[in-house]
Amino acid sequence: MKNITVIGSGTMGNGIAHVFAQHGFAVQLVDMKVEALEKAIDTITRNLDRQLNKGAITDEIKQATLKNIKTGTDLANAVANAQLVIEAATENPEIKLGIFKQLSDLCGPDTILATNTSSISITRIAAVTKTPGNVIGMHFMNPVPVMQLVEVIRGYATTDTVTNAVMELSKQLNKVPVEVNDYPGFVANRILMPMINEAIYTLFEGVAGVHGIDTVMKLGMAHPMGPLQLADFIGLDVCLAILNVLYDGLGNQKYAPCPLLVNMVMAGHLGAKSGSGFYKYT
Ligand code: CAA
Repeated sequence: MKNITVIGSGTMGNGIAHVFAQHGFAVQLVDMKVEALEKAIDTITRNLDRQLNKGAITDEIKQATLKNIKTGTDLANAVANAQLVIEAATENPEIKLGIFKQLSDLCGPDTILATNTSSISITRIAAVTKTPGNVIGMHFMNPVPVMQLVEVIRGYATTDTVTNAVMELSKQLNKVPVEVNDYPGFVANRILMPMINEAIYTLFEGVAGVHGIDTVMKLGMAHPMGPLQLADFIGLDVCLAILNVLYDGLGNQKYAPCPLLVNMVMAGHLGAKSGSGFYKYT
């Protein structure tokens, strides 16, 4: 596999493009707006500079990585030669289903169609395509160049051949893939989101303040970030959307989002990206 197309150039999309390009793949990065693509290349360049400054890569690798990424706004062109397409668009079922319907018409019968969704059903996405056996979840973690895990999610129809190819490919990126089945939240968010939700309930009920809760989890459990800081980093709207998927899909009250989280999202306090969440960002 050599030619990879990444759809969506936001935080996850540019990170995925960065990692594939750094490992020698020819990447087509596609988005609806040229400005979004320019911003993505700036971000990738900045992140490559971080790796360069600490000696993790050479300047040659930085230049080769940037050369391996082509950008464009035309989906049909971008997927024309792709052996693997990874969709990393907004976490909205209608948007993702629309993209996969288009991919189904534009791609050949052998193209693997992967989604970086954090919680939308792979089986549901696959059902709108003509090749559901080729559809799979390839869930990277943020920041993609740093985090080792790829959660590989098999939909109901995903074939062994496609699963094995994606597991192998993830290893070529120097990542550790873990194969999981397609149930709400998969594994990562089935476990992570209830912890974040419980941290928000702990704040809501006045058990401790923001710094106190995060310090307990950072220093007591050796987490790199406390759960409230992590929620801000992921985006409170994303956390709420994932909790709703767990609540609706598993039908258990224990997944009900904390009312404080619901209020913060309604107020537009979405975490780092909006300038305020549990913390303030300048
Ligand atoms: N690209 C390249 N390198 C990066 C980077 C990026 N985007 N972001 C950070 N780095 C590097 C830094 O250069 C630094 O490298 P060295 O240690 O070798 O010097 C290292 O990563 C650590 O970064 P910082 O020193 O800036 O800051 P830090 O020590 O506080 O670490 C962090 C930042 C890596 C984000 C760390 O806090 C962390 O691991 N946090 C938890 C992240 C996490 O849980 N991610 C998963 C979220 S859930 C998700 O993504 C899926 C979902 O579905 C919701």
